[in-house]
Amino acid sequence: MLLTALYCLLWTFQTSAGHFPRACTSSKNLMEKECCPPWEGDGSPCGQLSSRGSCQDIILSKAPLGPQFPFSGVDDRESWPSVFYNRTCQCFGNFMGFNCGNCKFGFWGPTCTERRLLVRKNIFDLSVPEKNKFLAYLTLAKHTTSPDYVIPTGTYGQMNNGSTPLFNDINVYDLFVWMHYYVSRDALLGGSEIWRDIDFAHEAPGFLPWHRLFLLLWEKEIQKLTRDENFTIPYWDWRDAENCDVCTDEYMGGRNPANPNLLSPASFFSSWQVICSQLEEYNSRHALCNGTSEGPILRNPGNHDKARTPRLPSSADVEFCLSLTQYESGSMDKAANFSFRNTLEEIPSHSLFQGLPTSPEKLSTLLASSLQHLFILLCSALTQS
Ligand SMILES: *[C@@H]1O[C@H](CO)[C@@H](O)[C@H](O)[C@H]1NC(C)=O
Ligand SMILES: *[C@@H]1O[C@H](CO)[C@@H](O)[C@H](O)[C@H]1NC(C)=O
Ligand SMILES: *[C@@H]1O[C@H](CO)[C@@H](O)[C@H](O)[C@H]1NC(C)=O
Ligand SMILES: *[C@@H]1O[C@H](CO)[C@@H](O)[C@H](O)[C@H]1NC(C)=O
Ligand SMILES: *[C@@H]1O[C@H](CO)[C@@H](O)[C@H](O)[C@H]1NC(C)=O
Repeated sequence: MLLTALYCLLWTFQTSAGHFPRACTSSKNLMEKECCPPWEGDGSPCGQLSSRGSCQDIILSKAPLGPQFPFSGVDDRESWPSVFYNRTCQCFGNFMGFNCGNCKFGFWGPTCTERRLLVRKNIFDLSVPEKNKFLAYLTLAKHTTSPDYVIPTGTYGQMNNGSTPLFNDINVYDLFVWMHYYVSRDALLGGSEIWRDIDFAHEAPGFLPWHRLFLLLWEKEIQKLTRDENFTIPYWDWRDAENCDVCTDEYMGGRNPANPNLLSPASFFSSWQVICSQLEEYNSRHALCNGTSEGPILRNPGNHDKARTPRLPSSADVEFCLSLTQYESGSMDKAANFSFRNTLEEIPSHSLFQGLPTSPEKLSTLLASSLQHLFILLCSALTQS
């Protein structure tokens, strides 16, 4: 299927996701710019004594930058992670992770040499026990503080260049909401200046590799949390769907009969709180999202601006997208023509085949079928786009 096709496409890209190992957030780590925590198996940094990896200087890409971000040295996300760390674990063989304690995706076993294929299923093909297990895992993730990762609640400058660390605990689910926020947030230029026309994970070639890694990391964290090494994220095949058919209490929550913007009280997502939704508020304070709960999930499927996002993508939209042979083209941004990546991001409102202005909400980010996107973007796309 489509996801499988996407899945194979971008195996070799290296992208970074902005998440901070708890073990690397002391002022000592930040001042020395070193993140090489011990592997618990032998106590040595990066599991060096067991030949899992070693602590090395990071190597940054020398590829030229695009004109879309005409600054340098103003944003912590530039040349990631060099503002915070210039030495990290480089893992050998099939080892992976901030301390080389994990296996690369697709590998298992004590030496990470056992190959195993996991399959992501259509959410409607899950058995009732499988579906209930999935919802229980989400609940557990939402209620469990991440043991391995924390979020920064200030910029490197606000941490006085690392001498006064600012980090918060976060639950395993919200960690990924926060990561998605952090990579796509506006740039704080100092003073009251904000640069809004920046996004390190969308509208550029990095869209697919970034989200691919994101989903794999998300699955890995759920696998660790639940000790279910075979967990995969189900996907929603929205091709030709007339409306949000996962927006029912059996799946992602139906509509509240008393308030169409809220979830049905019978859905356990109705008790969930969102984070990182007040982007203008953070900008006005020149602050970062700090993970505080900001109210219930707001969703109103079908009640969106139909001029901007007329419908969910059709099979024909998807076939058209898959027929494109160039991954990227021209300006490599949201104006790129006949770019597979851009068409995918703009489905279904891309002017190429709709004759409509492009939508700022990327309905097609759903294609990645991340649960984040399912809850936050998809349903917010349907609600607010
Ligand atoms: C890494 O950062 C530290 C602390 O700022 C500095 O002393 C060191 O020279 C840097 N190393 C490299 C390879 O840039
Ligand atoms: C942080 O580093 C920058 C650049 O090296 C320097 O201009 C600034 O004074 C430093 N700020 C603090 C609080 O140390
Ligand atoms: C995961 O799947 C493998 C077979 O692919 C099986 O041997 C193993 O027991 C499964 N693990 C769990 C926790 O179910
Ligand atoms: C955390 O963020 C919330 C919402 O943006 C804000 O009201 C609160 O003051 C922040 N807390 C801290 C300690 O900055
Ligand atoms: C895409 O095609 C349109 C119409 O031919 C053209 O106006 C536009 O400049 C092209 N965009 C890029 C980035 O090449």
